[in-house]
Amino acid sequence: MLLLLFLTIIITQTQGQPCTLQFLPALQIITMPEDTKTGDLVARLQITGTTSEISTRLVYNSSEVKTNGTDYFTLNFTSLYLRSSLDYEWWSSNNYPNPFRFIVECTVLSDQSTRYIDFQLDLIDVNDNPPIFNQSIYQINITETTPVNTIVSTTISAYDLDSGVFGLFSYYLLNTSSPYSSYFQLVSPKNASLLLLKPLDYNSMTPNFNLTISAQDDANSSLSSQAILSIHIIDVDTLNPAFLSTSYNLNISINTTAGSEVIPTQGRIFAYDQDLGINATVIYSILTSNPYLSINNFTGVLTLQREFNTTMLFDLLIKV
Ligand SMILES: *[C@@H]1O[C@H](CO)[C@@H](O)[C@H](O)[C@H]1NC(C)=O
Ligand SMILES: *[C@@H]1O[C@H](CO)[C@@H](O)[C@H](O)[C@H]1NC(C)=O
Ligand SMILES: *[C@@H]1O[C@H](CO)[C@@H](O)[C@H](O)[C@H]1NC(C)=O
Ligand SMILES: *[C@@H]1O[C@H](CO)[C@@H](O)[C@H](O)[C@H]1NC(C)=O
Ligand SMILES: *[C@@H]1O[C@H](CO)[C@@H](O)[C@H](O)[C@H]1NC(C)=O
Ligand SMILES: *[C@@H]1O[C@H](CO)[C@@H](O)[C@H](O)[C@H]1NC(C)=O
Ligand SMILES: *[C@@H]1O[C@H](CO)[C@@H](O)[C@H](O)[C@H]1NC(C)=O
Ligand SMILES: *[C@@H]1O[C@H](CO)[C@@H](O)[C@H](O)[C@H]1NC(C)=O
Ligand SMILES: *[C@@H]1O[C@H](CO)[C@@H](O)[C@H](O)[C@H]1NC(C)=O
Ligand SMILES: *[C@@H]1O[C@H](CO)[C@@H](O)[C@H](O)[C@H]1NC(C)=O
Ligand SMILES: *[C@@H]1O[C@H](CO)[C@@H](O)[C@H](O)[C@H]1NC(C)=O
Ligand SMILES: *[C@@H]1O[C@H](CO)[C@@H](O)[C@H](O)[C@H]1NC(C)=O
Repeated sequence: MLLLLFLTIIITQTQGQPCTLQFLPALQIITMPEDTKTGDLVARLQITGTTSEISTRLVYNSSEVKTNGTDYFTLNFTSLYLRSSLDYEWWSSNNYPNPFRFIVECTVLSDQSTRYIDFQLDLIDVNDNPPIFNQSIYQINITETTPVNTIVSTTISAYDLDSGVFGLFSYYLLNTSSPYSSYFQLVSPKNASLLLLKPLDYNSMTPNFNLTISAQDDANSSLSSQAILSIHIIDVDTLNPAFLSTSYNLNISINTTAGSEVIPTQGRIFAYDQDLGINATVIYSILTSNPYLSINNFTGVLTLQREFNTTMLFDLLIKV
């Protein structure tokens, strides 16, 4: 009987004075993952005392955190609850300290003495952000003569708000219904520069098609996003042919015989393809109907078809 009573006394003494930290010498460190929900219990503060012995109040150390910290937490006796969610990336980008301290003002009810107890809260980053492309659709123009193994786009880029290892992600070109996904490849899963693998041909391919690119979180594959690569193949022969001279003057003597070549004062009519690197055949034709002159559709040579019996002046429109 006596021995039992003695043991009870020892236990009471290790509990310590009201309004002190149980078991811990100085600081209770609380960790809170950023995905903790509003209203969730964050921690039970290890403060000695029962509701009949002490009362508590959360005090915010505003010299450490500029925001009113009581907006984020509520204290019900020794239970700390989250009142408003805290996003790690937002917290960090606003330069709030992490970990940060808060203080509990603890009052011993018997003598109304107060003590201030320090706590440290570590806001823990969790992998909660998917990588995001900086554009939802990337317009990529590629000329059909682009050589294989050329990088056709370097602007595709995604970012992940999570820090450290949670911010790592990889790019994948998805197999969509497009028959042309095999024409392209990414430089690497970490580099979304787009590489052309096969020669393009404007005439045999659909010139406009979409590919889908995905960015997937390395640690959590369910965190991913997609963007569209809207590819436009450019026909290199898109520039109009141009005449060497913008206008030609043709003086034909009235006794020129039919079938003779007539040569403008600027020289034979000549038009060339403006596209660099190609020399597409230029076809000449006369748009203005007239009985006197014909043009060779390949050479541009003008031939008199009918002899003039009177002087006249007229315009001809020549097309290439
Ligand atoms: C509040 O934080 C500052 C900076 O860490 C510290 O110097 C100060 O002692 C703290 N105040 C209290 C009451 O703990
Ligand atoms: C801090 O937040 C509490 C609870 O929301 C509020 O009662 C108090 O007025 C706020 N103090 C300041 C300085 O904003
Ligand atoms: C505090 O906790 C007690 C016991 O769990 C509960 O009865 C009381 O309603 C709570 N008070 C508030 C303000 O949530
Ligand atoms: C692609 O070409 C279209 C017109 O054909 C143009 O409007 C667009 O700006 C071009 N885009 C890029 C990325 O060059
Ligand atoms: C997307 O990222 C690329 C590469 O960093 C950059 O060139 C481009 O300007 C960015 N676009 C937007 C809309 O931020
Ligand atoms: C995409 O298609 C290629 C060839 O059709 C195939 O080898 C590859 O496994 C496919 N990838 C996926 C993710 O379906
Ligand atoms: C991606 O690869 C291309 C080609 O090798 C290179 O020019 C570019 O700098 C790389 N981009 C990054 C972000 O490493
Ligand atoms: C590519 O995707 C965009 C956006 O969804 C769409 O507006 C466009 O019509 C698509 N183009 C083709 C060729 O499917
Ligand atoms: C055209 O005929 C006239 C006379 O009818 C003649 O004087 C002239 O030399 C001829 N010109 C040519 C180019 O044959
Ligand atoms: C196109 O053909 C013309 C005549 O044959 C030649 O003089 C010219 O150099 C060629 N241009 C190109 C770009 O091949
Ligand atoms: C060019 O002219 C020749 C002879 O008049 C004709 O047979 C040919 O079809 C013409 N070619 C074109 C492309 O107009
Ligand atoms: C000139 O020839 C046209 C047809 O070739 C004819 O209709 C016209 O009467 C002729 N004029 C003269 C003055 O001979």
